[in-house]
Amino acid sequence: MSGNVVVSEGKSVGKSVQEMSMDGDEPPPQFVVKEHPFGSKQCNSSSESIHIPIIDVSLLLSSEQELLQLRSALASSGCFQAVGHGMSSSFLEKVREVAKQFFALPVEEKQKYARAVNESEGETLEEFSIKTKAMMDQLLRSMARSLNVEENSFLKQFGGDSAMMQARFNFYPPCSRPDMVLGVKPHTDRSGITALLQDAQVEGLQVLIHDTWINVPAIPDALVVNLGDQMQIMSNGIFKSPMHRVITNREKLRMSVAMFNEPDAEAEVGPVEALINGTRPRMYRNVKNYGVINYQCYQEGKVALETVRVAHN
Ligand code: OGA
Ligand code: NI
Repeated sequence: MSGNVVVSEGKSVGKSVQEMSMDGDEPPPQFVVKEHPFGSKQCNSSSESIHIPIIDVSLLLSSEQELLQLRSALASSGCFQAVGHGMSSSFLEKVREVAKQFFALPVEEKQKYARAVNESEGETLEEFSIKTKAMMDQLLRSMARSLNVEENSFLKQFGGDSAMMQARFNFYPPCSRPDMVLGVKPHTDRSGITALLQDAQVEGLQVLIHDTWINVPAIPDALVVNLGDQMQIMSNGIFKSPMHRVITNREKLRMSVAMFNEPDAEAEVGPVEALINGTRPRMYRNVKNYGVINYQCYQEGKVALETVRVAHN
């Protein structure tokens, strides 16, 4: 498994905005967000009733109630905060430290480090990857049980040991104009499932729920789990791959570590047969190498999931 961890640095707004915020200038035009097609309502007081659910992963095997919560979280927002995952506060803090050290390295050293992790010398990070993968596997089985289908229905589509775990370190420098510049523009993840270790203090992640941007609070011991497009396909559209974005902070740097679990590029991914029926016909065609489809759509400004949707008259 460890051989499949790929480390990269997120393409956040980066240095120019950092420099800009020091100078107090207007943001360079390429960072200024114009109208975008994916919902635009801001969080407001009326949306405070919508919140991101907290799921205790350790209860999913024993508690029917928790399993129902999981299903309802994934069928509505596609996102929750996972606790009870067995990783200690001090371990998670160590992972944040490793990410910060990585950020401080010069470019050539970062490339070496990425290779070193492939050779399973990344220690802390490798351990984080293994533990996160174990949590994800458990979640994938629980998701299947929550829909009353065979427990490996989702997991087996990832292609077993050849599934890819990708780690991405994201850094968002302080920005003087959070009203004009986003850390990451709205997107859905192309993964099967994503787990995000957020900054322990600084918030910034927002998820689009009912056309409103909802803040994901910083809970130091929790991992934010969100589904990617490929789980929306496998669940025949029952579970959602949520649109999310990152807003910038005027004073503080924010970091995060994202772990993406993606089916093997050679594996065929499609809606679980038992989730296709008369009332819910097949919503997506089977796909291979969704990463490439997603990338091409991104280049062409298309929504990738729409291009693999099956038309029904
Ligand atoms: C991502 C992402 C959110 C964050 O890397 O795909 O959505 O809070 N990151 O950094
Ligand atoms: Ni994302």
